[in-house]
Amino acid sequence: MLFAARYNKIKLRAKMAIDIRKLKTDSESSIKEAMRVIDKNGLGLVLVTDKRKKFCGLATDGDVRRAVLAGCGWKTRIKDVMQKNPVVVRAGTDKEEILKLMSSKIRHIPILDENNKIINLASYAHFFHIPVTEPEIEGKELEYVTDCIATGWVSSGGKYVKLFEDNFSEFCQTKYSIAVSNGTAALHLALAVLGVGKGDEVIVPTLSFIATANAVSYTGAKPVFVDVQKDTWNIDPEKIKDAITSRTKAIIPVHLYGHPADMDPILSLAKKHKLYVIEDAAEAHGAEYKGKKVGSFPDVGCFSFFGNKIITTGEGGMITTNNPDIAQKAIILRDHGMSREKKYWHPYIGFNYRLTNIQAAIGVAQLEKIASLIKRKRENARLYSCLLKGVKGIVLPVEKKWAKSVYWMYSILVEDSYGISRDLLMRKLSERGIDTRPVFYPIHIMPPYADNKKFPIAEEISRKGISLPSAVSLKEDEIRRIAAAIKEIGRGRGKRC
Ligand SMILES: Cc1ncc(COP(=O)(O)O)c(C=O)c1O
Repeated sequence: MLFAARYNKIKLRAKMAIDIRKLKTDSESSIKEAMRVIDKNGLGLVLVTDKRKKFCGLATDGDVRRAVLAGCGWKTRIKDVMQKNPVVVRAGTDKEEILKLMSSKIRHIPILDENNKIINLASYAHFFHIPVTEPEIEGKELEYVTDCIATGWVSSGGKYVKLFEDNFSEFCQTKYSIAVSNGTAALHLALAVLGVGKGDEVIVPTLSFIATANAVSYTGAKPVFVDVQKDTWNIDPEKIKDAITSRTKAIIPVHLYGHPADMDPILSLAKKHKLYVIEDAAEAHGAEYKGKKVGSFPDVGCFSFFGNKIITTGEGGMITTNNPDIAQKAIILRDHGMSREKKYWHPYIGFNYRLTNIQAAIGVAQLEKIASLIKRKRENARLYSCLLKGVKGIVLPVEKKWAKSVYWMYSILVEDSYGISRDLLMRKLSERGIDTRPVFYPIHIMPPYADNKKFPIAEEISRKGISLPSAVSLKEDEIRRIAAAIKEIGRGRGKRC
């Protein structure tokens, strides 16, 4: 409790609160004194008050420097160089109204009461910026990490790695979970355990994060790309058939942006052609296919706990499986290929892909609240879809009847009929403090993998897709602000066309 409360306070201070006392100076103070206030508060400005403590002006470090360059001495009073009529707002002014007053030059606006006393500072960065994602680390993370440090278990020994693995197995409905240092290592380790190597081919969707293909390349095998479905954005089982050759060893379906891939046809193809299936569930913790958790299908599931994922350990990953042989081999290869019976005896060339006790401690705390994190992700997605439904030229993410999506990133398509391009929409949202990110480039166009093949659906999704802010910490009014901005930008531009 104590740790959580202290941590929350730190986070709150960093994100929201501005200590107004640190921004103020008296109108009679010298520009040297004012500069000291500016340097200390780090915001690049000082708010000036008169004898009766009423706001009378504002000076930026630029104003002071220009005055000095123009010949003013350091003893010059701040009231002689400050801006006497800067933009200010009254208490109670709507956030949107304040945002409209901001520009590349005006990033801070004093908020005054009816007596012209300063009650706050509307600061662009503090009040209006909406990131695409941010982790929520507000449970017992600090308590558990402190336990690791206090007990000296900071490396990969200690109780939290096993606890994290056991709890993840319970969450994921699998017999075994093996914690590793990141999601890419999980994929590589899975492929190595299954014996994938030089001369083999592994089928992957071209629309994914590059790590899916890179992990295949690390083994010496060749990633063979397949196009995706138009609605789920996931690997198209119909097109997998054409990519299977005598060299194919495995298929890696990716549950992109939190929506599960269509597993049944993939599994039956795999069975027919004797292929392994490795789920890349890096973005889909807790997603379900026909009521079954992703990562629990044969043969192996791979997860990432990078900072932007559904749960995080900073960097981290997990292999899940129901197969005891795969689990045993993964445990050995994770730890330099060392025999579990004979210390420092290495029957295999393994890797150091261990997760630390400290990272696992964060993971245990994150897992304790994963149900609520997923619930909020889904609620945010529902609100986005409700607000954006029917907006011309905006295509919303689907949730198939057989799927439970966790909406890792709420991602949309911007069609030509929206009126402006995807990139211009992103720029205009950014001007309003709303961060977005483009959907991944298809891997087959990246320099290491480029060939002349065309995968039109992935290419189109990549060209038109953007991910909207998707942090679990998003507030309802922020989602409303984002949706309103998307509607307004499209409408405004549409009229001019
Ligand atoms: C689909 C996919 N696969 C694999 C990875 C790799 O995970 P990590 O960054 O933990 O190595 C990611 C992570 O971003 C991902 O999105």
